[in-house]
Amino acid sequence: MKRELISELYKAPESFCDREITVCGWVRSLRDSKAFAFATINDGSCFPCLQVVLERDRIGNYDELVKMNVGAAISVKGKIILTPDAKQPFELSAIEVKEEGASSPDYPLQKKRHTVEYLREIPHLRPRTNLFSAVFRIRSEAAYAIHSFFNENNFIYVHTPIFTTSDCEGAGEMFRVTTLDVNDPPRTEEGAVDYSKDFFGKEVSLTVSGQMEGETLAMAYGRIYTFGPTFRAEYSFTARHAAEFWMIEPEFAFADLNDDMQLAWDMLQYVVRYVMKTCEKDIEFLNNFVDKGLKERLTKLVESEYRKVTYTEAVEILKASGESFKYPVEWGCDLQTEHERYLTEKHFNAPVFVTDYPKEIKAFSMRCNDDGKTVAAMDLLVPGVGEIIGGSQREERIDILLERMQECGLEVENYNRYLDLRRFGGAEHAGFGLGFERLIMYLTGVSNIRDAIPYPRTTGNCY
Ligand code: 4AD
Ligand code: MG
Repeated sequence: MKRELISELYKAPESFCDREITVCGWVRSLRDSKAFAFATINDGSCFPCLQVVLERDRIGNYDELVKMNVGAAISVKGKIILTPDAKQPFELSAIEVKEEGASSPDYPLQKKRHTVEYLREIPHLRPRTNLFSAVFRIRSEAAYAIHSFFNENNFIYVHTPIFTTSDCEGAGEMFRVTTLDVNDPPRTEEGAVDYSKDFFGKEVSLTVSGQMEGETLAMAYGRIYTFGPTFRAEYSFTARHAAEFWMIEPEFAFADLNDDMQLAWDMLQYVVRYVMKTCEKDIEFLNNFVDKGLKERLTKLVESEYRKVTYTEAVEILKASGESFKYPVEWGCDLQTEHERYLTEKHFNAPVFVTDYPKEIKAFSMRCNDDGKTVAAMDLLVPGVGEIIGGSQREERIDILLERMQECGLEVENYNRYLDLRRFGGAEHAGFGLGFERLIMYLTGVSNIRDAIPYPRTTGNCY
């Protein structure tokens, strides 16, 4: 069917006035005032709805149509009329209306405000609400902006594997993948499960990060990024952990930690700027109904330079804060959510990179600093969410890397390919991982990761 999108109508309504057009969508509301009826429809192409005016004398099936239920799918042939004095800048004056798919009075999305908890139970319908329509549209635009940022900066988009035998430096708990009969698996003579009989002939899991493979590709292309699904079996009930989430992982050669932070900041500014431009109406709505500080926060981000603080300075700030934290702070401890949020929300009131963490609490691949105690790591903390990026400069010196692997108790022979990168043309390099759902939380103001992805998978939840 040849149809016009409501988003196109809003761009230049006057250019549609001279002819009959067809618009399709789902009815959000319907009001009958005897001689006229007003239907608002939304087609998902943009946040605003279109008002359709039905005139009793012109529409043959008027009496039937005004009995339509909210949620029905309709197509309307009509003409655009500009209405500069009305609430909406134009409306569609109907000539012919067809109910494509009826709805019923028990349609779960009646015109009232629903709680996000209720809406999570109807993931198949919630994209039709104002809130989720806005959030998932922003998700799409943000994904596009990320690809376009890296493409413009000559990063090669690579796909790293989802099935993996490596635990990527213990980035998270892994989901095992097997085709063995779980009730009666083959056993070795010692009685252990015999994975040599499994599909891949060994133990395989879902990826927790593409970093290791990303590093190998960066050593060929110089600049790469991945953008793909990531799986972590952390038993967690927080509002910012999902078992399945999407991660963006750039990795680039001839780059140090400062280059890494600059890249992360440039990317973030690019994405925020893009989304503020293409999703103006969505942001407006979220700013009014979800997070009153959203627009100001995003505007400030695109206008400011990045801030950074070392882990050691951060610990000093937290100790001097006078706050009574649940987890007391000492140099050497990992920063907890309450600490991260104090730093970014109260102390800096802005996004902030925390750098140079103690090596004991970070991965073996991070480059050792000259002090012998810390590594060239960085986490980006943002208000409302906490950590959204984790990255580092990687250790390119093979002797120090081997030492670190031994300290961490790793089996060196499992990492031969990784070590080869340091044997054959090793170079300074760095990278980071951005949690896409956490970015969406930041861009939209939604406070639960379950509302940042259409079908959330979290501990105990797989609808
Ligand atoms: O800090 P993480 O664990 O870093 C890595 O995996 C590195 N190997 C990345 C790299 O350097 N290439 O994870 C990176 C980001 C976190 O900052 C967070 O935003 C997100 O991934 N993340 C999660 N998002 C949702 N649910 C979870 N369970 C997450 N775990 C990490
Ligand atoms: Mg991290």
